[in-house]
Amino acid sequence: MVNKDATANTDQLPEAELLALLDRTALPRHIAIIMDGNGRWAELRGLPRIAGHTEGIKSVRDMITLCRDLGIKALTIYAFSQENWKRPAIETNALMMLLEQYLQHELDALIETGVRFRAIGQIDSMPSSAYNWVRKVERNTAHLDKMTLTVALSYGGRSEIVDAVRQLAQDCMDGKVQPEAIDEPLLAGYLSTHGLPDPDLLIRTSGEARISNFLLWQLAYTEMYFTPTLWPDFRRREALLALLEYQTRERRFGGRVSDTHSQSRT
Ligand code: IPE
Ligand code: IPE
Ligand code: MG
Repeated sequence: MVNKDATANTDQLPEAELLALLDRTALPRHIAIIMDGNGRWAELRGLPRIAGHTEGIKSVRDMITLCRDLGIKALTIYAFSQENWKRPAIETNALMMLLEQYLQHELDALIETGVRFRAIGQIDSMPSSAYNWVRKVERNTAHLDKMTLTVALSYGGRSEIVDAVRQLAQDCMDGKVQPEAIDEPLLAGYLSTHGLPDPDLLIRTSGEARISNFLLWQLAYTEMYFTPTLWPDFRRREALLALLEYQTRERRFGGRVSDTHSQSRT
């Protein structure tokens, strides 16, 4: 799958040419994104931070459309971390309102394009009106299968693992699971991402090179792409550059280069 020439001098190319360079047989099955830099995007323009969050929604739409166009079946986006509750109420309230407006506005479009919406994280710690919209959009798109859009809300990777282990311990105590039967796939089945393949590609915008408590279990062998571009500026072209860079990576999963073609991804 390695396409070493894919990123040579691509930065200036128009979108159509970037698309033509993509190897359609070697696309990620699942892309995860840490959408960062909305606040800085707004501050650079002398705007309130919420203006950056609002603009960032356009990048979310672009990513959903691009994944749909390319046949990438899973997109998982980090919209709000557990730690983001530390921010001033004026910002967290505005973010919750924006989420609610997005869900109200986008429900029909998600249904029309066959996108299943799923939320992961401690959704019940959200204000009830935002919570109700999350559940409504989940219910109304549950039957769709062109693509799964997972949105991490009030999400923390460590709590996700703790919750999974607590449930697993309960199932052991109830005699439903024998401790000797616990293995990686079984534990993964208790995580909120159950049913999705692990992400092949993680994108983080805004120049930060950290995971910030996102998908700690699932990212074990994910390719990481860090870009200085701020999230509201991360549009289709930027995403194509990320995909082309991904196609230059040699994925070995601990094996040797010559073995990688026989490696199966889980
Ligand atoms: C990412 O943008 C969105 C959320 C975390 C909700 P930020 O709000 O973190 O933007 P910066 O990092 O301050 O620029
Ligand atoms: C990570 O961004 C969370 C989301 C993008 C939702 P942050 O801006 O909260 O991360 P840190 O604080 O810089 O690690
Ligand atoms: Mg940030």
